[in-house]
Parts: sequence; C-alpha cells; structure tokens
Amino acid sequence: MKVVLGVAGGIAAYKACTLLRLLTEAGHDVTVVPTAAALHFVGEATWSALSGKKVHTDVWSDITEVPHVRIGQEADLVVVAPATADLLARAATGQADDLLTNVLLTARCPVVMAPAMHTEMWEHAATQANVATLTERGVHVVPPASGRLTGRDTGPGRLPEPEELYAVVERELARAGGASRPGAPAGPAGRAPDATSRRGDLSGRRVVISAGGTREPLDPVRFLGNRSSGKQGHALAEAAARRGASVLLVSSSSLPAPAGVEVVPVETALELEAAVTAAAAEADVIVMAAAVADFRPAAYARHKIKKSHSAALDGPEDESAPVVELVRNPDVLAGLVRARGAATSPVIVGFAAETGDDTGSVLDHGRAKLARKGCDLLVVNEVGNGVTFGQDSSTVHLLRRGSDAVTDVGPAPKSVVADAVWDAVLDLL
Ligand code: CTP
Repeated sequence: MKVVLGVAGGIAAYKACTLLRLLTEAGHDVTVVPTAAALHFVGEATWSALSGKKVHTDVWSDITEVPHVRIGQEADLVVVAPATADLLARAATGQADDLLTNVLLTARCPVVMAPAMHTEMWEHAATQANVATLTERGVHVVPPASGRLTGRDTGPGRLPEPEELYAVVERELARAGGASRPGAPAGPAGRAPDATSRRGDLSGRRVVISAGGTREPLDPVRFLGNRSSGKQGHALAEAAARRGASVLLVSSSSLPAPAGVEVVPVETALELEAAVTAAAAEADVIVMAAAVADFRPAAYARHKIKKSHSAALDGPEDESAPVVELVRNPDVLAGLVRARGAATSPVIVGFAAETGDDTGSVLDHGRAKLARKGCDLLVVNEVGNGVTFGQDSSTVHLLRRGSDAVTDVGPAPKSVVADAVWDAVLDLL
C-alpha cells in the first residue's frame, strides 16, 4: 500500500524512524514528508535511507512531478507522527504553507494523526479545539500517551510507541480496504471515493444512545437534577452518524441535535426508560451515557409548593419546611442487560463517573460497577480533582467484561473519546 509518513518538528520524530521501518518491513511503499522543523531533529538522509526513496521536503523541488498534489492524491493512507500543536493548527485551518499541509489537503484516504507535545500545549483550549475539528472531519487522532516527556516533565503528551501506531495504521488500511468490497462504491484506486478514516465503519448498524441528566419534578416549577451536560452523549451520537450508523438519541439535554440523528426528548428517568426500552429490540448497540437519577420525589405536587404552606390564602404563616420523600428509579442499564438474557445482541455500553476514595481507585470502582451492571463495556469517567461537569474534554478508561485490559483515553476532546468508544464497540460487534 502507498503510505505517506508525515513528520512534524518535535523530538518524537526519532520514534517515527522505527514506525517507518515497521511499515517498510511489512511491504508498504512509504513516502516520507518531513516538515522543515522536523529536519532539525532527523535529517533527510535518514528518511531517505530508511524508506529507500527520495524524500520530498518542500513544494518547490521537482516541480514537474507536482509533488504537492500527487503525493496526497495517490496515497492509500497518510499518517502524521508526531503531529505537533503547530501542525494540528495548520491542518485544522486548512493551510497549505508547506508540502505536508498540501498533502493533507489533497488526500482522500484515511488520515491518522498522532499528536506529541508538552502537556500544557496538548491541554490548551486551542489545541483541543483543533483536535475536535480534525476528528469531526474524520481524521483518526491517536491520543498521546502519558509519561516522561523531554526534560523533567511528565504527563499526557508522549507519542505512543511505534508498534502501537503501526497497529493503528494496519487497522485503518484494512478498514479502508473493506469499504471497497463488492457493493461498496469503489474509487479509481480501488478505494471508496472520499474515504476518510473510520467513515462508514458503522454503516448498517442501529444504535441507541441516552444522554444528559434526568430531571425529576417536584412541582410545576421545581425538579431534582444533576450536573450532566449531555455533551459526551451528543458527541457519541455525532460520531456514530458520521461513521454511518442510524442513530436514535434519547436526550434530556438542551444541546442541539447532531446532523442526521433522530432525537427523542425526555425529561425523567421513567420517560428515558420507556424510550430506550422501546427502541432496544431493534438496536445493535445501546450506549447509556445519560446520568439517570437514582431517586425521584414520591409525589408530584400539581400546584407550586408555597413557602408558607397554609391551608388558606389568608391563613397563618407556617414556618416549617416540607420533607421530600424519595423513591427509587429503575436501573435502566441493569434492566437492559436482564432483558437481553443469554443473547449477544445488542451490545450494551454503560458509563460511570468515579472519583476513587479510601475503599479503592477509580479503576477499582469501575471494575466493581462493570461486574454489578453486567454490560459489555464500561466507560469510566474520571471526575473530581478539579474536573468539573460540562467541560469539552475528558479522561476515560474503557473496561471490557471478562478482560483485565484497560484502554486509557485523554484528556482529549469528547469527540476523540466518542471515536475511541465506537472503536471498542466495533471490536465487540
Ligand atoms: N444508570 C441507569 N439507571 C439508573 C442509574 C444509572 O441506567 N437509575 C446507568 C447510567 O446511564 C450509566 C450507569 O448506569 O450508564 C452507571 O451509572 P451510575 O450512576 O454510575 O451507577 P449507579 O448504579 O447509580 O452507581 P452509584 O451508586 O455509583 O451512583
């Protein structure tokens, strides 16, 4: 396969040499496109010797070959490793100020980007917004690993190991190949036209997603609620629709409906349960991202509860406060798992917001919840430690039933987390 290895100017460029070796040893025809800054870290001679090919470094050489257009057009996959904050910004805004950004604009194949930078740069709102934009356009962004960075810093920002990146590249190539199987629209190079990373890999799948925090009414003006914004559930719906699924979003959030997604608005846990269970029989996947209230007021007051709850309008002031009695709401997720019984479909995904405490870590609580709920995949969201609700990025750990393996994602935009969840679901389908 024709693979373009873009290398941006970061110290992790040295790891791209190993990635290049893995790709060429697997028989791929690799064209390396380093940026001018990347050449400060690893020189042209190294790239050329390892790829066995001429290395193009700028748009002004070999003009007759029109490299700024041809390299991207002919590629089966473009992988950028490392992708620096600057490269992500230039790619997100569609700039074409060097050969690599020209390649990215002309490529119609899957694009994989592996960001690597210092933690502050990765966590900066500008970088996170650029990553979100690129993900929404179908770029497969591999979240950076956590660990030792250049100098004395540690934190998220490390380029994942070359073997890991190589596995992502092979998976993406296999998927893109799948899109050109009989019945799928094949392009001139045997690829789906306009195929971008992950596009279409959920086509034919029906997914149901619940999102937002439920509101349990006390009277016509008051409710018991929680701080869930619904952003992660909406990002999951947007990603599933982009990847070709037919999506039903059962949402109590006021966020707008993502394009191409059918929305059932709900308010209470009981309404959410009714909508999700009605759609469950037809679903291939159900994702319970909603923060369902565990309790609701036992009684609903049809009229506003007055501060002075006296029997008559002109009666004496009652200084006491009413006591609100609560009753348990159904556990929707556990009910779905029970109803599925011994069947394998639908795949059921739960969410858990955990802080960790004296009795165990975030992961200990996540594993216990996975066992209790019996779902196939649990997305454990790290909250607390200054992490508040409603943010645009999050840190999650994906736990699978019957496996000790953990996939760590983030801190990353919710769109990146959403794609990581769908990647894990695809492995289970
Ligand atoms: N959930 C549900 N119905 C409920 C409560 C939760 O379906 N009544 C689902 C959520 O949508 C989520 C998962 O269960 O996917 C875990 O939610 P969480 O509130 O963490 O679980 P609880 O069982 O309520 O555990 P905890 O005591 O930690 O709140």
